[in-house]
Amino acid sequence: MSCFIVIYAFKTRKFLSLKLRRWKKRTMQVIEILREVSKRIYDNVKDLAGTDDAGGDFGRGAGGDISRNIDIIAEKTVLDYLREINFDCIVLGEECGRVELSKKPKGFIIMDAIDGSANAVRGVPFFCSSLAFATEDKLSSVTDGVITNLSNGDMYWASKGRGAFLNESKIKVHDKEPIYKIIGINTSGATIELMNRLHPIFEQHNHIRHFGANALEMAFFARGLIDIFIDFRDKIRIQDIAAGYLIVKEAGGILLDADLNPLDADLSYKTRISFIAASNQKIMDDIISQIK
Ligand code: IPD
Ligand code: CA
Repeated sequence: MSCFIVIYAFKTRKFLSLKLRRWKKRTMQVIEILREVSKRIYDNVKDLAGTDDAGGDFGRGAGGDISRNIDIIAEKTVLDYLREINFDCIVLGEECGRVELSKKPKGFIIMDAIDGSANAVRGVPFFCSSLAFATEDKLSSVTDGVITNLSNGDMYWASKGRGAFLNESKIKVHDKEPIYKIIGINTSGATIELMNRLHPIFEQHNHIRHFGANALEMAFFARGLIDIFIDFRDKIRIQDIAAGYLIVKEAGGILLDADLNPLDADLSYKTRISFIAASNQKIMDDIISQIK
């Protein structure tokens, strides 16, 4: 008799947990899913950054760089959670590549679970996770994005048409004349030709910055801490910028590609992007006039 009770209780628990997962899946908005999983990444990696364990070598990931232990732990956090809630999607991850979690996907999760891996491994407190959701195979179809600063848990997020936020406060790009104009330029691995083209900017401005995690730099730009952000190296992947793309736009920023057209791209692994972000057209025109 007691054996039957145990089996019955076990089956009931299983049944209820299945029901709960289905209910969660039906009621959670995409942005809540991205925010929840970002929190889980933060919890799982916050004590790992800068330790010997963070840098363990897992070979080359889909994006072409060496996958580090911290990258793998962060990606696994996302994949486990999406599986737990049965979220119907295709994941495009920087390390894991394309993972089809459903035969009937609602769209794509574009994941750079750790952006700024070198900083994370060395313990430089500037690295983040970047997660976006797109309905089509295009950057312009991103509807939700979350960038979490993994050194302090600050969460930058946006849903299309609803504005951009830092934690619970609305954020806007800085479009007034600043006391100190801060220009972010990614120069890692830049060619001599690119450095020559950008040289007038280096010459005319005293506050050029490069922190080492493009997604978080885009979030800082969206928050108004940086006035312009340029990455013209043709190196950055879609995973690094998909969430930043939406957060910048929702914060009122302008994003152009290297031909000065509105930024867009397909979500392929081979895609490498160049872009410039400015807070208004005047600031954009001014900085472009300084590029050779
Ligand atoms: C890197 C960062 C860095 C940029 C590199 C990216 P990762 O991302 O965004 O700022 O200079 O091109 O690869 O590899 O740390 O995810
Ligand atoms: Ca990465």
